[in-house]
Amino acid sequence: MCGIIGYVGDRRASPILFKGLKKLEYRGYDSAGMATSGSGIHLKKVVGEVKKLKPFLSSLPGTIGIAHTRWATHGKVSERNAHPHLDCSGKIAIVHNGIIENHEELKERLKGHEFRSETDSEVIAHLVEENLSRGPLKAVFEAMKLMRGSFSFIVMIEGFPFLIAGRKDTPLYVGIGEGENFVASDVLAFPKGTKVIPLEDYEVALVSKESVAIYRDGKRVKKQARSVSFFEDFEEIEGHYMYKEIKEEPKSVSRAMNQDLSEAIRILRENEVCLIASGTSYHACLMAKLLFSKIAGKKVEVYLASEFSHFLDSIPKDAMIFAVSQSGETADVLEAIKLAKRKVISLVNVPTSTLARISDYVIHLNAGPEVGVAATKSYVNQLVIFTLLAYGLAGKLGEGRKLLQDLPKEIEFIFSQEEKIRMLAEKLRDKEHIFLIGRGYSYPSSLEGALKIKEISYIHAEGFAGGELKHGTLALIEKGTPCIAFVDDEEILNNVNEVKARGGYIIGIAGRHNELFDEFIAVKGFFPITSIVPLQLLSYHLGVLRGYNPDKPRNLAKSVTVK
Ligand code: AGP
Repeated sequence: MCGIIGYVGDRRASPILFKGLKKLEYRGYDSAGMATSGSGIHLKKVVGEVKKLKPFLSSLPGTIGIAHTRWATHGKVSERNAHPHLDCSGKIAIVHNGIIENHEELKERLKGHEFRSETDSEVIAHLVEENLSRGPLKAVFEAMKLMRGSFSFIVMIEGFPFLIAGRKDTPLYVGIGEGENFVASDVLAFPKGTKVIPLEDYEVALVSKESVAIYRDGKRVKKQARSVSFFEDFEEIEGHYMYKEIKEEPKSVSRAMNQDLSEAIRILRENEVCLIASGTSYHACLMAKLLFSKIAGKKVEVYLASEFSHFLDSIPKDAMIFAVSQSGETADVLEAIKLAKRKVISLVNVPTSTLARISDYVIHLNAGPEVGVAATKSYVNQLVIFTLLAYGLAGKLGEGRKLLQDLPKEIEFIFSQEEKIRMLAEKLRDKEHIFLIGRGYSYPSSLEGALKIKEISYIHAEGFAGGELKHGTLALIEKGTPCIAFVDDEEILNNVNEVKARGGYIIGIAGRHNELFDEFIAVKGFFPITSIVPLQLLSYHLGVLRGYNPDKPRNLAKSVTVK
């Protein structure tokens, strides 16, 4: 996934593009580049983070420009493969997010063109060049007809005071300013107060400083711009977004709790649902399966979005899809919805996202902007909403709200142990393997805790159902092997004993201390929700202690918009 942005107006483009591009870095950060058009195309590309472009902004004149921050899919991380890419003449520059799946075939078709990079994206510049004599807009229409795969792109042509943007499968928005206009992968990149037009698949936007024209299948269509408040309170910070977002949890869970869920409960009561998600959102769905079963006696199936296609033949004929996604742009989830061809209820954080727009009914996560690559406050909000939905399905919503009424304070209680958690991170920082075990509700917690540790500290971690360890993996436990145990019932203590007996180092996450624990983090309140917060803080401190940037873990990106 990459971040792309374009600007056209009366102001100098480069600093505006730089400011917007910084906010898109959560989408990919292995290399970056910018091109402006002002007496020729001016281009600068760097390997590494966006900030490396800053010294070159003054050498990029002009009031129209495009920029890109990359998460490499085709072609290694290099300056040559960074975007923007140019056509043979050097008069056409493009930035792209997605994968042009038939790029090899198109290169064959473009024999004679001089390709400078190893990327799939560069073909877009040469396709537009090929048809430019038919006019810039027609050239882009023709290019889109030939491209297969996922693409959102922006084309800038020397001497042409318009940007041309096209979209299929990966998000792209037009931002309407005062005497200036923008295009970007995420509305987060626009200045506050910018009105937004989300582009849909196969739509093309022709954007100048005074006008925006949208085309679908080559014909002009009318689309309304709308205000978007979701990012209004987003502010840039000096520290780590991951830490800030964990600390926001007491506030964000209150927003999740204080919303009307009656329509969602009605839909769930009347329909069979298949939960579909990826990564952390998938772990939340595993927790939902348990909550719906234990509290409401409702059976739901849960599918990894990337594996859903293998189960199409057995999906109950009138089941609804319940898609869960923080970003609302995860390609695996959107692809599963396309395959399912069913009605969709979704639980989404970003209200302007593709998933929010294509769903029949949306439950808003209300976690506020989350840009740290690790899902933290969004996961806790997902659990809060699933808990309330389960109690609502059981006709006991009031009981559910009462159960969670002290959740903000219970999360604050874990924050009060942060120094203890940081010291535990000191002890674990050089470990090669960490195991996590839990039973019932704590089985998804062990999976989620392992994912946090892996993606932020790069330490290998594995989560297990407590009863499963003895069926094989116990062979890996030796003296000093750390094992984090979510202890919310007596049964798990048998498994803790099995680990302890082999010399394992037991870290208990529990309501009260136990003599089996070598380390103990106390947790209060509804254990399925509060017990993950220590792991979020632990993974953060492990990452920092090991010298990594928790906001930009290697090889990852916040929104995985490729399959
Ligand atoms: C979680 O910390 C990861 N960033 C990743 O697993 C993420 O949960 C997954 O990519 C799904 O993202 P989504 O919720 O935006 O669909």
